[in-house]
Amino acid sequence: MAPPSGLRPATPSTSSGAATEREDGLPDAARTSAVQEAILTWYQANARDLPWRRTRDPYRVLVAEVMLQQTQVERVLPKYEQWLERFPTLPSLAEAPPAEVIRHWAPLGYNGRAVRLHGIARMCVARFGGQLPASLPELLELKGVGPYTAGAIACFALGQQLAFWDTNVQRVLSRSLLGAAEPPGPTAMQHLADAALPPGRAYQWHQALMDLGATICRARVPLCDACPASPACAAYAAHRNGELRLAERRRAFSTQPFRTTSRYFRGRVVDLLREQSPRAVEDVLARLGRDDLPWLTSLLAALERDGLVRLVGGTVSLP
Ligand code: ADE
Repeated sequence: MAPPSGLRPATPSTSSGAATEREDGLPDAARTSAVQEAILTWYQANARDLPWRRTRDPYRVLVAEVMLQQTQVERVLPKYEQWLERFPTLPSLAEAPPAEVIRHWAPLGYNGRAVRLHGIARMCVARFGGQLPASLPELLELKGVGPYTAGAIACFALGQQLAFWDTNVQRVLSRSLLGAAEPPGPTAMQHLADAALPPGRAYQWHQALMDLGATICRARVPLCDACPASPACAAYAAHRNGELRLAERRRAFSTQPFRTTSRYFRGRVVDLLREQSPRAVEDVLARLGRDDLPWLTSLLAALERDGLVRLVGGTVSLP
């Protein structure tokens, strides 16, 4: 397969895997070229055939990226198609009542994302004629659209040549180009992502980094032996000889049993309301197997602030 255009060839000086980043924190140019070429060539042969890669419709890209923010590809796939059947356009989503949007988000979890998508759709109808705006600054004006989502729409739907990142992209770039186990801060990360962007290949580059980060350059168990970028990677040699620990630690809070977390109970409350809405608050408390009313009251107040429930007297409903 022909190497991707616009890339300089790998040079032997970087193939040992020794880190050669420069004092200004930017990656070495020869290493950058070698990593770009390895990753883009790998992607050409291994890209996953995913439905959001067969569209340039900004709304469809938005839906995919919001769903993928906290949910793995395999779980997103069936929901993505169902969602687009029910809400095929931004105006169709904007018109739907919030309760229906929240009902339809199941079983993805992190239900606040459904409210966020709905809010974005309504803002686009109110301010942009029912379309997502076509510039990065206007995308960023939409409440609920952060730099990652705006960058993904600009790049994947609008074809703009710009660098953006999620945790997968951040991890792959900081390991492979800086030899760092931890990503740099946001300003240095922007410089790194900009320096790493292969000219004219922003779409493939970001999709490739996401696939590589999800399947090979993984947070806790990186599969360096299967990685196309290992020969050029700034972290590989030190990782292999035990000088650099790449595996990210589990965050402390994840040691708490999930079924005791407020995220678990927030999800359970919304699930109960999907089954039946409205419900008496006392009934919700009983169905959760708890007897702490003040605790539930503050949980419901937080859900109401997030637009996920409505509280009227002693009853709670979907909004
Ligand atoms: N994760 C986030 N965005 C993604 C995309 N476009 N493809 C695959 N995984 C992703």
